[in-house]
Amino acid sequence: MYTCSCVASDFCMLVTPTAAEMSGHKRGEKMKKVFTLMLVALLVCCVLFTGCTKKAAKSNGKLITVGYAQVGAESDWRTANTESFKTTFVEENGYKLIFDDAQQKQENQIKAIRNFIQQDVDYIVVAPVVETGWETVLQEAKAAGIPVILSDRQMKVSDDSLYLCWVGGNFLKEGQDSVVWLENYLAKNGRAEENINICLIQGTIGSSAQIGRSEGILAGIEANPHWNLLAKQTGDFTQAGGQEVMESFLKQYYDIDVVFCENDNEAWGAIDAIKAAGKVPGKDIIIICFDAVHETFNRMIAGEINCAVECNPLHGPRVDEIIKILEDGGSVDKIMYVTEGVFDEENAAEMLPTRAY
Ligand code: AHR
Repeated sequence: MYTCSCVASDFCMLVTPTAAEMSGHKRGEKMKKVFTLMLVALLVCCVLFTGCTKKAAKSNGKLITVGYAQVGAESDWRTANTESFKTTFVEENGYKLIFDDAQQKQENQIKAIRNFIQQDVDYIVVAPVVETGWETVLQEAKAAGIPVILSDRQMKVSDDSLYLCWVGGNFLKEGQDSVVWLENYLAKNGRAEENINICLIQGTIGSSAQIGRSEGILAGIEANPHWNLLAKQTGDFTQAGGQEVMESFLKQYYDIDVVFCENDNEAWGAIDAIKAAGKVPGKDIIIICFDAVHETFNRMIAGEINCAVECNPLHGPRVDEIIKILEDGGSVDKIMYVTEGVFDEENAAEMLPTRAY
């Protein structure tokens, strides 16, 4: 549903007449046919793909007001996500965006949502810091008749009708993908039967990104008789947090083989701690992280990070498309997962030029 504009223009290009067709005595008749065809094709394009190309607008022609309750600015992923919303929800695209940075605090997000309700926005978009504790404020939004769209992280609520839909990455699958990568990597390096000591630097506890990734990783460790979890602790999805936690792991354990970091920034902090301890990141200790922003690709190319599981932050255009569909009277799926990949030292250099964030 997210990539149809190019399909529309490809389709339109197919009906362009050639020079040979334009010559000859039946030229007038042919032109008539060609233009009729072009008109029909154009109409089909419009009917099928209006959601992808047109500017959003309310039926009264006014701008659509969207309040975005953002988590904070804890990571490079988050910065890319904010940028994606700020560049999508602009006046030229039919929107007025009210942006709120909650500084990773749920109470700030709840305040922001209440402000959006007071301002009678048309849509509320939330990337919830944590999964639980949203019922009351969502009921207030529902009573005010304002649809709530969740993006990035999910909420756990007793009544699903309190939000309209969610779009984001599949965090559990990301965790599982990281485990599969490690199994294959160890097997390829003749270490499948070796005892492997693992540390886990978790994200913000209670966030769906942490819950899903931790669940996938911990289940994988549990299932492998050669893998041993030494310790797990939160780094709160920040670089400083990752460094601090890794420093304390390194003080407690001298034989760490692998560290899973639940986002890129934690991995960059962990790398600093590993270097400071006189070890070589990516060699002495295998580093696996999540997000896969540009800087992580550079570090994979440099051999410091071994694997990055993608978490795509570009949700602005996705939410825009959802709103356009709703404004046109359509409906959307309740849960919409974004497809994501796994990258490592082998494909990082080739993939880097294709990456948008
Ligand atoms: O919810 C997505 C996570 O939040 C990203 O992995 C992380 O970088 C961000 O802070």
